[in-house]
Amino acid sequence: EEENIERTFQGYKQLVSNLPNEEGSEFFDQICLYQGFWIADVHCQGVIAVQNHFKARSTDIIGATNPKSGTTWIKALLFAIVNRSKYPINNHPLLSENPHGLVPCIEIDLYNGRIPDLEILPSPRIFQTHISYTSLPQSMIDSGSRIVYISRNPKDAFVSLWHFKNKLRAVLSKPPLTFTEDFEKFCKGVSLSGPFWDHALGYWKASLERPQHVLFIKYEELHEDPVLHLKRIAQFVGYPFSSEEEKEGMVDEILKLCSFETLSNLKVNKIGKIVGTPFPNEAFFRKGMVGDCTNYLTSEMIERLDQITEEKCHGYGLIM
Ligand code: A3P
Repeated sequence: EEENIERTFQGYKQLVSNLPNEEGSEFFDQICLYQGFWIADVHCQGVIAVQNHFKARSTDIIGATNPKSGTTWIKALLFAIVNRSKYPINNHPLLSENPHGLVPCIEIDLYNGRIPDLEILPSPRIFQTHISYTSLPQSMIDSGSRIVYISRNPKDAFVSLWHFKNKLRAVLSKPPLTFTEDFEKFCKGVSLSGPFWDHALGYWKASLERPQHVLFIKYEELHEDPVLHLKRIAQFVGYPFSSEEEKEGMVDEILKLCSFETLSNLKVNKIGKIVGTPFPNEAFFRKGMVGDCTNYLTSEMIERLDQITEEKCHGYGLIM
């Protein structure tokens, strides 16, 4: 069987090697264009494996994001919501493990050169993905799994991504990416999971067409009214807060546990590493602010991104 799996992934590797490619712009050696989106070659094999082998359940809960749009945050929130009766807040797994270790990314952590047996996991299973809506495995749509998409304004997301990539590149002793060159690529759509706008739009449209199954929330909204949106998320995934829980302050406790302040100051996130990699957990926590882009982008750059957003998204009613 092992040989079989090896052969299967050899096939995926072959497929990926024939896709349009860009070299060396990321901390990965290569990124490729698969079904309209740019993905690291190694992760693309995982995406194909997910499409071919992942069997969704109706009870599955999926956090979906563009990179640097709130992945760490939504992982922590979903985990805390679903498991709130299992763990006391003061002795919670989120205090000793990075959220990425508790909620795996399907294509990166699970289908990385293997076909994992996910049938053994009890329901509800919580996963995360960067796969675009249009490339999700069919069973995830058919089964009616619930998908929570977190989107972020492209200006802050770009600045966050640039910092993140350079942090990881430094670990690999690669030179930092030039800000202006990286910006050009981002505008052209050549960024991890990009084009950034197309990624968000896919989930936006799905949230309008299938509101019971796809919830679209903005990072900025979550910042502005965390109580409201945490309750919305809990309700949506089938774990609404009871009035008793609300009275006892459970909503605030979860928000505090999953906050940038709490998570970024934990020992595990200050000195730990992303499991199986040389990269520090700390790379996932920078400022956690809205609007930091103004410290890095010129007014021309801001105008340019705003214009792309308007051209691509406003016709669909998506304001980012
Ligand atoms: P900044 O670089 O702007 O600070 P992702 O989790 O998708 O990789 O995104 C990382 C971004 O989310 C970083 O943004 C990071 O600081 C921020 N972030 C991480 N954890 C967060 C949390 N618990 N609450 C709010 N923002 C968080």
